[in-house]
Amino acid sequence: MAILRLGDESPNFIAQTTEGEIDFHNWLGEGWGILFSHPADYTPVCTTELGTVAKYKDEFNKRNVKVAALSVDDLESHHGWINDINETQNTTVNFPIIADKDRKVSELYDMIHPNADSQLTVRSVFIIGPDKKIKLIITYPASTGRNFDELIRVIDSLQLTAYQKVATPANWKQGEDCVIVPSVTNEEIAKLFPKGHQEIKPYLRMTPQPDLN
Ligand code: BEZ
Repeated sequence: MAILRLGDESPNFIAQTTEGEIDFHNWLGEGWGILFSHPADYTPVCTTELGTVAKYKDEFNKRNVKVAALSVDDLESHHGWINDINETQNTTVNFPIIADKDRKVSELYDMIHPNADSQLTVRSVFIIGPDKKIKLIITYPASTGRNFDELIRVIDSLQLTAYQKVATPANWKQGEDCVIVPSVTNEEIAKLFPKGHQEIKPYLRMTPQPDLN
C-alpha cells in the first residue's frame, strides 16, 4: 500500500455499492468527489453522519460534488442499516455506500489504522478534484463525528483557490476576504483583483473574494 498524499492521483477501483457496481473514476466523471469511511454499520455516530450527508445533498450538488461512503461491512448490512438511518435521521440516504468486506478499497486508501483499530476503518475523508487528484485528506477517530459544514467550507475554498490566485485565511467562509498568493506581484494585482486590495504587510495582502468566472 502506497502512502497517499495531497496532489497524488486518487487510486481507482471497482466496488459494489448500495447503488450498484461503480468504477470510481468513471462514477466521479468530470466533477469533484468525496470518499469517506466510517468504522461500521449499525453504530450510533455513523448513523448521524450518514443521515447528515443525505440532508446535505443539495449543498454537494450545488458544488458539483459526488459523495461515496465506505465501511468494511457487506451490502446486505448496508441496506438494512440504511432503513435505520432513514427512520432515525428523518431522511433518505441518497448516495452510494461501498461494501468493502474484503478491505480492498480501505487498504488502497489506508483507511485502517491498526493502532487505533485493527479491524475497522477510521473516519477518513478524501476530497478529489476533477483531475482525479487528491486535494484534501482528513482523518478523525471513531469517537468523533465529522463536521460536514467544515467539509462544505473546505470545498468552497478548494474550488475558489483552484481557479483564482488567492488562498483563504483562518476561519474563512464563503464571501469573506481572501489572501492574495505570494507569487502574485504588486504589478499584477490591479488587473487580477479589480475589486481592490489592502496591503497589511508586503507578504499579507487581502482582497474581497473574487468571482468565479
Ligand atoms: C459510532 O459510529 O458510533 C462508533 C463506531 C465505532 C466506535 C465508536 C463509535
